[in-house]
Amino acid sequence: MKNQISYLGLILLVVTVAHAKERPEVKGSMQQMFNSLLNLQPFLASPEKFSNPKNSEIIRKDLNRLATFKHVFPKEMKNEEPGIFAISRMFHETIEDARERFKKGNYDYSRHRLRTATAFCFSCHSRVPSEKNFEDLQKRVEASQLTTFEKADVFAATRQFDKALKAYTDLLTVVPKTSMDVVEYTRSLRRALSITVRVKQNPKETLELIDSVTQRKDLPEFILRLAQQWRKDAQYWMDDKLTDKKMPPEELVDKAKKLIERAEKLQSFPADENGDISYLRASNYLHEALDESPQSKSRTEALYLLGVAYSALQDPTLWDLDRLYFESCIREAPHTDFAKKCYQRYSEKVYMGYTGSAGTFIPDDEQRRLEELRKLSDNQAKSG
Ligand code: HEC
Repeated sequence: MKNQISYLGLILLVVTVAHAKERPEVKGSMQQMFNSLLNLQPFLASPEKFSNPKNSEIIRKDLNRLATFKHVFPKEMKNEEPGIFAISRMFHETIEDARERFKKGNYDYSRHRLRTATAFCFSCHSRVPSEKNFEDLQKRVEASQLTTFEKADVFAATRQFDKALKAYTDLLTVVPKTSMDVVEYTRSLRRALSITVRVKQNPKETLELIDSVTQRKDLPEFILRLAQQWRKDAQYWMDDKLTDKKMPPEELVDKAKKLIERAEKLQSFPADENGDISYLRASNYLHEALDESPQSKSRTEALYLLGVAYSALQDPTLWDLDRLYFESCIREAPHTDFAKKCYQRYSEKVYMGYTGSAGTFIPDDEQRRLEELRKLSDNQAKSG
C-alpha cells in the first residue's frame, strides 16, 4: 500500500512538472494567435481598410479568436507565476476593449489598442531565455506589406527572435530625423537589447549592439548618452563569471538580488535608466526561479525583487506589473518582513500614481485595498 501511494505520488509529480513545462494546448492556441495577428496586420496598418464595412466581418472573426486567449493560462497559474497570469489578463482586457470599441464604430481607438497588443506577446515570450525560434515556414511576415518597423514588432511578438533582432539592428543603422523617428529608434534599441539580454542572455552580443550605437557620430545626443550608460553595465556583465550549470532557485534569487543592489546604486533617481541591463538580467533569473520551482523557499523574495525590477524598468505596456508582484508578495506571505517591504513599495507606487498638481487623490476602492494590504503586511500583529 505504502509503495502504491508513493508510486501514485511520483506519477502526479511527473505529470504536474511536465504540465508546467510543456503545455501542448498552449502551443496550439499560440499558433492560432499567430494566424489571427497576421490576418489583422494589413488592416491594422491602414485606417481606411480597418474602418471599411466590407472588412468588418473578417476583422471581427479574428478579434473573437484573440479574445479566447483568456483560457490559455488557467487561473491556477496565478499560484505559480502571478506575472504571466497578469500579463495574460492585461492582454485579454486590451483585446476586449478593442473588440467593444470596434463594435461601436470607434475604429481609430480600436486600431490603436490592437497595435499596442503585440507588446504583451513580446513581454511574455521574453521572460525567460529561449534558444528556439518559432518557425513560420510560409514566411508570412516577410511577404506582408508591413514597414520594416512593423515587421520587426511582429517577428518579436511571434517568437521569431533572430529575425526580429536582425530587423531591429537594421533599423538602428538609419539616422533618425523627426521626433517620431527618435521614438521608433529608441524603441528598436530597447527591444533589441531585451532580446540579447533576456532571450539570448548574451553579454558579447549585447556589448556589440551597444557599441554599434555609441560609435556613431550622427545620432542625437540623448540616444548616445543612453547607450553610453548601458555600455558600462554591459561591460560589467562581460566581466561577470558565468556558469553553464543550471542554478537552484535560491542561487538564482541571490544572483538577482546582487544585480538589483548594483543597479540601484547606479541610479541617481528612480526613473534613471543606468541600471536597465542589470534589472533585465535580474528579472530573467527571477522568472526562471519561479518557473522552475514555484514553491521554493525564495519565492516571496523573488516576488518582491520582480516588483522592484519592473518598477525600475518602467515599461509602459506593463506599468502595473510591479504592483501586482508586490500585492502577491503581501498576500502570500502576510505578517512577514517581506510583506512589509512589499507594502512599502506598493503604497509608494499608489501614492505616486494618484498625485498630481492638485494634490493626492486616491479613489475609495484603492484606499480600501491599501488598508487591507497594510493590515496584512503588519508584522507586529498576529495573523488570523
Ligand atoms: C501570458 C503570456 C503569453 C502571451 C501574452 C502570449 N504568449 Fe505566445 N507563448 C507563451 C508561452 C508560454 C509559449 C510556449 C512556451 C514557449 O515556447 O515559450 C508561447 C509560444 C508562442 C508561439 C510558438 C508556438 C510554437 O509552435 O512553438 C507563438 C507563435 C506565439 N506564442 C505567438 C503569440 C502571439 C502572436 C501573441 C500575442 C498576440 C502571444 N503569443 C502572446 C506565452 C504567451
